[in-house]
Amino acid sequence: MTPSTGIAARVGIALDGGRSYDILIGAGLLGDAAAFEGLPRASGALIVSNTEVAPRYADALARTLRTRYARVEVLALPDGEQHKDWAGLNRIFDALLGGGFDRKTLLFALGGGVVGDLTGFAAACYMRGVPFVQVPTTLLAQVDSSVGGKTAVNHPLGKNMIGAFYQPLRVIADLAMLDSLPPREVSAGLAEVIKYGPIADDAFLAWIEANLDALRARDRAALVHAVRRSCEIKAEVVGQDEREAGLRAILNFGHTFGHAIETGLGYGEWLHGEAVGCGMVMAAELSVRLGLVPAAYAARLKALIGRAGLPVVGPRLGAARYLELMRHDKKAEGGEIRFVVIESPGRAGLRAAPDALVAQVIEDCCR
Ligand code: NAD
Ligand code: GLY
Repeated sequence: MTPSTGIAARVGIALDGGRSYDILIGAGLLGDAAAFEGLPRASGALIVSNTEVAPRYADALARTLRTRYARVEVLALPDGEQHKDWAGLNRIFDALLGGGFDRKTLLFALGGGVVGDLTGFAAACYMRGVPFVQVPTTLLAQVDSSVGGKTAVNHPLGKNMIGAFYQPLRVIADLAMLDSLPPREVSAGLAEVIKYGPIADDAFLAWIEANLDALRARDRAALVHAVRRSCEIKAEVVGQDEREAGLRAILNFGHTFGHAIETGLGYGEWLHGEAVGCGMVMAAELSVRLGLVPAAYAARLKALIGRAGLPVVGPRLGAARYLELMRHDKKAEGGEIRFVVIESPGRAGLRAAPDALVAQVIEDCCR
């Protein structure tokens, strides 16, 4: 690993209404007061984390926050996607109300996408809105879920179905925390990194192909580049279409199939990133069958996704079940499923496709 300390990169996300914010990227930021400079005064800070992450990192964050805030407390939620639900959300409200936290409270989401999505949604709702900061601890959260203000809980009938758009004040991505991430979670994060190549930046896809081994080994210089470029692309898209009127949907490449896998198997069975990785294989295959990209391009993506340690063959839920689940997708309109497809290398779009064609893709990509 290449050692580096401090803020190595800063990516701005431009939004109107004074809601622009920075994503700070570097190693050792939890203990770096500079990363917290400029955050507002608050009556208290609640660090929302989980039972896996809090024992490793909550003390370090709390120590830094205590130099700014008189009251700093930690809430450790149960770990896992299956807890990204109403009960999980209520645990945060219980801690806030039970602890007498007022509307000048600042929340810190210290964890992966599950903690980030739950904490962001709690911040959007508590006393009709309190500010929050994202401190993402997984690669997936650093390159995707902590950025852009989508917050949600799952419903048994569909992923992320109940939620709100609510932006954080800042994202502080400390790469040193990735050292303790299990390899399977690194692979899951790589799915969302890879996603940015086909949808927005063909040169980035080639860079990932050349640097995949370094990324899997958590080389710091490689991680800085991957997290920064991913955040730049996401910031650019969200800056143009914060509430997903159109363009932002491209960030969901692979997610329509992927969410069906997650819901169909039961939350937590496959990791979100694994389902997205396999979903991208299926969405690329659909793009080929719609005549948009050559088969060699889909094969190239599939090879990279496999090299990243992700599944490239989907679970056999049956085409009818996939289609039923995908009709619940938020991009569906009037019961018609709309897929993010690759229109040309580095450019994505949204298209409907005949059920029979989609069913054929599912049959050929699952076993
Ligand atoms: P996660 O939050 O479940 O974290 C993965 C696992 O790693 C958990 O067991 C967690 O406790 C553990 N962990 C986290 N940080 C660690 C660390 N530094 N060291 C050791 N273990 C650590 O999963 P995730 O992949 O981060 O996020 C997936 C979630 O994000 C899904 O719910 C998905 O829907 C959501 N998501 C949201 C958006 C968005 O825009 N809001 C985008 C993508 C994904
Ligand atoms: N992860 C998809 C989005 O933020 O829009």
